[in-house]
Amino acid sequence: MASSLGSDRRERARDRAVRAAVRQGLVSPDEPVTALLDTDGIRASAAALTSAFAAVTDAPVLHAFAVKAAPLVPVLRLLYEAGLGVEVASPGELALARAAGVPPARTVLDSPAKTPAELRHALALGIAVNADNFQELARLDALVASAPTASPLGLRVNPQIGAGSIGALSTATATSKFGVALRDEGAREAVVQAYLARPWLTRLHTHTGSQGIPLALMAEGVGAAYALAEEINAKAGRQQIDTLDIGGGLPVNFASDEETPTYAEYAALLASTVPGLFDGRYALVTEFGRSLLAKHGTVVARVEYTKTSGGRPIAVTHAGVQLATRTVYAPESWPLRILAYDAEGRPRGRGREAVPEDSGEEVQEVVVDVVQDVAGPACFAGDLLAVGRSLPPLRPGDLVAVPDTGAYYFAHHYAYNSLPRPAVHGFTPTDDGGIAFTTVRRAQTLDEIVAESGGDRPDALLRAAPPGGPMGA
Ligand SMILES: Cc1ncc(COP(=O)(O)O)c(C=O)c1O
Repeated sequence: MASSLGSDRRERARDRAVRAAVRQGLVSPDEPVTALLDTDGIRASAAALTSAFAAVTDAPVLHAFAVKAAPLVPVLRLLYEAGLGVEVASPGELALARAAGVPPARTVLDSPAKTPAELRHALALGIAVNADNFQELARLDALVASAPTASPLGLRVNPQIGAGSIGALSTATATSKFGVALRDEGAREAVVQAYLARPWLTRLHTHTGSQGIPLALMAEGVGAAYALAEEINAKAGRQQIDTLDIGGGLPVNFASDEETPTYAEYAALLASTVPGLFDGRYALVTEFGRSLLAKHGTVVARVEYTKTSGGRPIAVTHAGVQLATRTVYAPESWPLRILAYDAEGRPRGRGREAVPEDSGEEVQEVVVDVVQDVAGPACFAGDLLAVGRSLPPLRPGDLVAVPDTGAYYFAHHYAYNSLPRPAVHGFTPTDDGGIAFTTVRRAQTLDEIVAESGGDRPDALLRAAPPGGPMGA
């Protein structure tokens, strides 16, 4: 069930934060784009996740936040303090988790392309690892034989139950690159044998997809993994698989501030469709990402210019493909809302009720919406955040806010045109009606852009190749 109380709170907090961001100079002509994170909202989502599963099972559950959704160290730290762990899928993500202070016992490593060195490092630390395929299991054989490890080890399986609405994010298709494809000829039997031959293989993992997967399909995938674990344990004659890692993927509603579907709905569906999952025989791991962060992030960008082209009004802003890459390249799959504010950060075109009650602000003018495009700053024609969107007629200096961008958006910078990564600020409403900001990530500087673009070796291509080969220092 959606929470309208929650969505009202979110809208009010966001409006106040945009206004405060202008007043405190976080967005300005010189700092034309910034990103805001609602700290209380993140905490509330972590609490909702924890309580949704606690309501249906007494089994131990590690909620491992999928770092890929928001690879920001202070975010990982906040979630860890809220009782969550992390799921990492690369050496970089593991480094972020370590920097956030998340201990190995609350860390899970998944990824389809782990190197031997990565696996060795994970096993030395005691981090849980889900192997992706039989070749990786063979690597684990060698590592387990060579040194003792505290790492719980598992295998990812693909139940091949079909796609959701976004093919690129559907991982349980007939030909997905992830996990062992269970319905392929002989695969199920091979998986069973792999477990029986490896007493240390004690976990089983599946993840049906990310955004666009209906809850019923997610539950079907979990049900398939559960049935396989039961079969393996029966054949082993003991509870060899003691932990089921059911992945993440709860979809997010990008159409309004309503948070739907909820963790409680998903947990209740699992309890009714896979009741044995929660009877205490299995410890559980979840790997939610988008649903924990998306609703709590907002990009705020200034409108630099406005124009018309072929009769179409266009607002050229500072938020585009560098922050909303999926939306720009696949707008049908990833539509985002756009909210209009004036240069002072006051909502435009939403009437009296949109003005924060305690702000003392006068209502803005009543405006008639105009169909317009909202463009980003990058130099290609498709850099559009919204096409033909009905909004108050945007003016130079106005602000646009792009809500629901807390996961897989502003933390996933795309360096087109060497546009800098914007600052990310966490915000919290204060008792006196104000907003307190804290910097989660500062904006990238031009020096940093030059440095990461070979700026320390401008002559590198002018030199003759050194005698030892082309890899000159
Ligand atoms: C293995 C695995 N776990 C968890 C996630 C997180 O999914 P979401 O952010 O949709 O919850 C992903 C996303 O791609 C994934 O591949």
